[in-house]
Amino acid sequence: MEFSKRLDRFQDEIFAALQKKSSELEQQGKTIYNMYIGTPDFPVEEHIRKALVEAAEVPENWKYSLRDIPELQDSLIDYYQSRFGVTIRPEMIQSCFGSQEGIGHIGLALIDEGDTVLLPTPCYPVFIAGVKLAGGEPYYYPLSKETNFLPDVSTIPEEVARKAKFMIVSLPANPLGSVGTPEVYKEIIEFAKKYDILIVHDNAYSDIIFDGVKGGSFLAYEGAMDVGVEFFSLSKSFNMTGARVSFLIGRQDVVAAFRKIRSQIDFGMFLPIQYAAIAALRGSLDGVKEQCLNYQERRDALCGGLRSIGWDVPDSKGSMFVWAPIPESYSSSMDFCMDLLYKSGVMCTPGASFGPLGERYVRFALVLPKEEIEKAVQAIAESGIQYKV
Ligand SMILES: Cc1ncc(COP(=O)(O)O)c(C=O)c1O
Repeated sequence: MEFSKRLDRFQDEIFAALQKKSSELEQQGKTIYNMYIGTPDFPVEEHIRKALVEAAEVPENWKYSLRDIPELQDSLIDYYQSRFGVTIRPEMIQSCFGSQEGIGHIGLALIDEGDTVLLPTPCYPVFIAGVKLAGGEPYYYPLSKETNFLPDVSTIPEEVARKAKFMIVSLPANPLGSVGTPEVYKEIIEFAKKYDILIVHDNAYSDIIFDGVKGGSFLAYEGAMDVGVEFFSLSKSFNMTGARVSFLIGRQDVVAAFRKIRSQIDFGMFLPIQYAAIAALRGSLDGVKEQCLNYQERRDALCGGLRSIGWDVPDSKGSMFVWAPIPESYSSSMDFCMDLLYKSGVMCTPGASFGPLGERYVRFALVLPKEEIEKAVQAIAESGIQYKV
């Protein structure tokens, strides 16, 4: 059978070699420090678990839910008001099965074949996949050391801006660990207005921001509601990655278009998961704040630790990631990762998997306890690998 030409838009998994090497080394008894995948190791809180279990005991809750129940919408509305100072209404909300799925599909509602979409590079890979699925053409705007790993709309040529339909902005940024500032958002909103570009903001790390800076919502900035929507995921704040809960929030016409596409293929989120999401949004946020401090300690252990052994890795400002430059002597980020894994047992992700501008970097996920991270730094120091940039 000849499969869809659409498949040719995507690469095969090229990092399987890294996983294979890690399993081999582990079987040989080597300690592996796995900082490769961005899945939180913290447990989901008890009140969230209980809400799901109780709801799952009710047979009615096993039927198609068909919609976001009003209690879920209300809890999100209250959360956005109290946490971010943003007023939303039910028509401005549509759930999806995680931001990954939502971002993967939103292009189907927004663009036609050949339309231009502005994407950051390096970026979370589904940004690219979603545009390609919908037949769009990505234009990559750089997030580089020179721009403090933040969007700089002045780098986008006028002719590109004129034809772009939407732009994805995602701060705190995976894999870069950079955090948005009011100035950056102001420039983005002005740019969006000037060129009539929709901003799709991916807010996955609003609760993982360091050094006393408080995370917020893009929609809180003046004018943002006119030009944008935001994906808000419960995955990382509440350690619910497997439950797959996220929402598209913001401009009503965009949410309606997204809902129309979804309603062709989706019968709604499992009701027990909706009840778990309500418990998360209505519950105390003390645990979420404590967790953020914990991530910060891990960040200090990794970035500070690596600097203390001579590898100049800047502090992440937010997200659960650290973005580290690799020495010039390595021909690629993949080569460096393989060597690092082989010699020290530390497993991280090649920067190339986040787009071409990622090539001279690797990403560490802060998914090990601080003490383990300290041991990982020690293992790197003793490995004989060249890590000094
Ligand atoms: C920037 C960013 N967006 C979205 C996601 C996916 O979130 P979800 O679990 O809601 O699909 C991730 C997960 O790592 C992410 O880093």
